[in-house]
Amino acid sequence: MSFFDEDNKVQDKVGMPVENEHESFVEQIKKRKREGIEIPLKENTQGKRNSTYLEYVKLIHNALPELDFDEVDLSTSFLGKSFSAPLIIDSMTGGTDEAFLINKRLGQIAEKYGIGMGLGSQRAGLKSEKLVESYSIAREVAPNAFLIANIGGAQLSEGLSTPDIMKIIKMIDADALAIHLNPLQELIQPEGEPRFKGILNKIAKLANDIEIPIIVKEVGSGISADVAIRLKSSGIQSINIAGSGGTSWAGIEKIRADRQNDDIKSRLGELFWDWGIPTALSILLVSKSVKMPIIASGGLRNGLEIAKCLILGSDLCAMAFPFLRRASESEEELENFTKSILAEIKSTMFLLGAGNIKSLKNTRYILTDKLASVLGNYE
Ligand SMILES: Cc1cc2nc3c(=O)[nH]c(=O)nc-3n(C[C@H](O)[C@H](O)[C@H](O)COP(=O)(O)O)c2cc1C
Repeated sequence: MSFFDEDNKVQDKVGMPVENEHESFVEQIKKRKREGIEIPLKENTQGKRNSTYLEYVKLIHNALPELDFDEVDLSTSFLGKSFSAPLIIDSMTGGTDEAFLINKRLGQIAEKYGIGMGLGSQRAGLKSEKLVESYSIAREVAPNAFLIANIGGAQLSEGLSTPDIMKIIKMIDADALAIHLNPLQELIQPEGEPRFKGILNKIAKLANDIEIPIIVKEVGSGISADVAIRLKSSGIQSINIAGSGGTSWAGIEKIRADRQNDDIKSRLGELFWDWGIPTALSILLVSKSVKMPIIASGGLRNGLEIAKCLILGSDLCAMAFPFLRRASESEEELENFTKSILAEIKSTMFLLGAGNIKSLKNTRYILTDKLASVLGNYE
């Protein structure tokens, strides 16, 4: 049962009557934020005809592991901070009462298991003081976890100011700032802002202006080698490739377009539902073209897939939808899921004879089928 089931509705204590234009704008953002979690929870918005390509990565069983399972060490470091495991709860939400509860539960898990957590786009928190606590709750319950603030590339391109971005960072006392690049989502979203002109210069200026590291991320369409090289030149510190094969934002926005009877956007959403660079391919392209810490995300659903991403060249892995689903069910579901994922990573490492993350990253692998042939044809 999730928050959006009829008999389990969360009372919206910030759902005040609309008094003026600003209130109505804030209500619109809240509605969009609520749909952004309700739709993926209720409908199937995962990739339909594509995949992460991780099924084309074969690992080689080690019958002589020369280590005890209990010795396997998942700890690692990223951007100068220690993590108990190479895992991040990927950026998702904020701005509604459901989001407050989700972020609270996710923050508690991040703190307890020493993993990272990204917040959803924080523009809503800038527009209304009342919405701030749906984000800041994460820091309240996770005083030591690596928390990542979040803004949209389109908003940066439209002129979001450095002082406003500082406010967003302060809202959760963030360890890093993620800028999400989501041209596909902005394109399909009925009220989208597909305007990215001048974005790289804006990112470079911000990288110069703020003290904490910047992570540039996609939201499910992947990062190419060329884009990674251009991003690196802007002075950012890390890339989250968020490839295709998992949550489809074209899919989510298509469903929103259907609800608004926006036929053109609905057709565009269907056409581009599976658009993007599969996660495994994106990790290989980016890790072979730039030297910088990489986060893998997009369709990762178990610890074996996470281990594959680390072997292919990522430094951390992130999951969004699987955490959302469990967080919307119960604290217990969420904790059991997290423990399973960690056990799965550890088990894969044991079967490969890798006692720590460094040794895992040096494990050999075989690329097969579509992934091997697509790389062979890449010029
Ligand atoms: C409900 C939901 C909300 C999301 N909101 C954001 C967001 O506000 N900012 C962002 O950078 N990415 C956002 N994402 C994208 C995720 O961080 C991630 O890149 C993407 O969903 C792929 O991971 P997955 O297949 O594990 O869901 C969101 C994803 C989901 C499922």
